[in-house]
Amino acid sequence: MVKLKEIIERRGRASENLIHILLDYQKSKDTNYISEDEVKFVANELNIKESRVYSIITFYSLFSTKPRGKFIIQVCGDVPCYVNGSLNVVKELENILRIKMGETTPDGVFTLEHTSCLGCCDISPAIRIGEELYGNLTPGKIAGIISSYRRKYNENKE
Ligand code: FES
Repeated sequence: MVKLKEIIERRGRASENLIHILLDYQKSKDTNYISEDEVKFVANELNIKESRVYSIITFYSLFSTKPRGKFIIQVCGDVPCYVNGSLNVVKELENILRIKMGETTPDGVFTLEHTSCLGCCDISPAIRIGEELYGNLTPGKIAGIISSYRRKYNENKE
């Protein structure tokens, strides 16, 4: 857990740094999750209870305790997006990635998740991938978005 220790040292051991430590660390892993051992490690280093770490992980949908893909595709499922066609966007994502909502592609690159309002209803239907928002989506736009992430992933591997 060298990387985790480095992040804790950089952020500082004060308990108010917990969220940033978890975010930095999760982002640094291709598998986008925090394991049980890592929860224990952080709690121990910050001298706080493990339950406090779990409460943060379960409260924010950005976190997970189960392995996920390198890129998390969050699809807004709230009413404005639904009315403007989010179901067709979901169908196309499932079709191109060959997985269902909640699943991760076998190569570990993408995970599909539902989320509540992303705060950009004016460009609904919308999705978020990492920190990027994509709006005014139609099924026809999905293939291009996915291939740009595949390219990014392959370039980083080389
Ligand atoms: S309802 Fe989808 S972004 Fe607000």
